[in-house]
Amino acid sequence: MDTHVILFVATFIFTVVESQVYDYFDLEPSYLLSNDCPKECICPITFPRALYCENKGLKEIPPIPSRIWYLYLQNNEIETLNEKPFSNATQLRWINLNKNKITSEGIDKNFFGAMKNLLYLFLEDNGLEGVPAPLPSTLEQLRLARNKISKIPEGVFSNLENLTLLDLHQNKLTDGSFQADAFAGLKNLVQLNVARNALKKMPTGLPSNTVQLYLDNNNIESIPDDYFNNVPKISFIRLNYNKLSDKGMPATVFNLTSLLDLQLSHNEISTVPIVNGHLERLYLDHNKIKNISGSVKCPNVVKEEHDPHFPHGPRLRYLRLDGNEIQPPIPLDIIVCFRLLQAIVI
Ligand SMILES: *[C@@H]1O[C@H](CO)[C@@H](O)[C@H](O)[C@H]1NC(C)=O
Ligand SMILES: *[C@@H]1O[C@H](CO)[C@@H](O)[C@H](O)[C@H]1NC(C)=O
Ligand SMILES: *[C@@H]1O[C@H](CO)[C@@H](O)[C@H](O)[C@H]1NC(C)=O
Ligand SMILES: *[C@@H]1O[C@H](CO)[C@@H](O)[C@H](O)[C@H]1NC(C)=O
Repeated sequence: MDTHVILFVATFIFTVVESQVYDYFDLEPSYLLSNDCPKECICPITFPRALYCENKGLKEIPPIPSRIWYLYLQNNEIETLNEKPFSNATQLRWINLNKNKITSEGIDKNFFGAMKNLLYLFLEDNGLEGVPAPLPSTLEQLRLARNKISKIPEGVFSNLENLTLLDLHQNKLTDGSFQADAFAGLKNLVQLNVARNALKKMPTGLPSNTVQLYLDNNNIESIPDDYFNNVPKISFIRLNYNKLSDKGMPATVFNLTSLLDLQLSHNEISTVPIVNGHLERLYLDHNKIKNISGSVKCPNVVKEEHDPHFPHGPRLRYLRLDGNEIQPPIPLDIIVCFRLLQAIVI
C-alpha cells in the first residue's frame, strides 16, 4: 500500500518539475501542523517546498516560511524588496518576481547577496535602472528583460561562475554601460541576450563558453576582425535589425566551424558573407543584396560523415534571401553548392 502511494507521488512530481523530485522526502511532516502558509498564498501539499503568491495584487511580501525553495511572486504590485519577510527563508532556490513594480532604489542593500542558495532569479518587467548588486555566487539564471537598465555595477557578474543564462533584453543599455571586463568570471555562460538595447558596438570580452549570442534590434554598425575567435563554441548568432553593412563586416568574421544558425535579417548588407560548411541556417532577408550569382563562395568541405549521400558538402539547409533586390530564378551555383538545402526563400 505504502509503496503505491510513494510511487504515485514520485511520478506526479516528476512530470511537473523534474528538479523537485527529491523535495517531498526530506521534509519533516511537522510543517503540516505549523500553519505557516501565508494567507495570501497557496501552499500545495504535494510541493511543500513551493509557495505560490502570484496574481494576487500584493504590495507587500508576506513572511516566507523557512522550508520554501521555490517562491512565485510574479504579477503583483510589489515595489520594494525588504530583508525582513525573508529572514527565515534561507533555503530559497528560485524566486520569480516578474511583472512587479520593483525599482533599483527599492531593493535592500544585500537583499539578493544574502541568499546563499539561490539558483534562478527572475525580475523581468519591473522598473530596475541597474543590475542588482551584489548577487549570490550560486546563481545559474538571471532574467532581467524589459526593465530600464542602463547601469551595470562594476564586478557584479565577476563571482557568478555558474551562471549559464544572462538575459538583459529590452533595456536601456549602451556601449558605455559595460566595463571592458564586465563578463569576466562568467565561466559557464551559455546564453547572452542583449537584444533590444541601444548598442552601437559589439560587447567586448564575451565569456569563452558562449553558445548563443542575441543582439537583435540594436544599432550595431560593425564587427571587429576576429571578434568570435575567443568563443569557440558559438553556435547561434542573432543580429537582426541592426545597421551592419559590408564595410563594417570583415569578410570572414562569420567563417566559424561551430556556427549553426546565423541571422542577419534587416541590415544593410550587399554581399553574401563567407560562411563555413557547417552552417545550417542563414537569414539574409531584408538587406541590400542585388546579385548573388557568382558572388557566393561555396564553403570548403566538411570532414565529417553526417550524410552518406553527401558526406563532404556544406550543411546549409535553410536560406532566406527575400526582401532584397534579387530576381528569381535561384542561381545555379547556389543549387550546385548547397545540395542539402530544404528551403530557400527569395
Ligand atoms: C521566523 O521564525 C520564527 C520561529 O519560527 C518566528 O517566530 C518568526 O515570526 C519568523 N519570522 C518571519 C519573518 O517569518
Ligand atoms: C557551481 O556548481 C558546482 C557544481 O554544481 C558546485 O559544486 C559549486 O559549488 C557551484 N559554485 C557556487 C559558487 O555555487
Ligand atoms: C573558412 O574557414 C575554414 C576553416 O574552418 C578555412 O579552411 C577556409 O579557408 C576559410 N574560408 C575563407 C574564405 O577564408
Ligand atoms: C551578377 O553578377 C555576375 C557575376 O559577377 C555577372 O556575370 C552578372 O552579369 C550580374 N548580373 C546582374 C543582373 O547584374
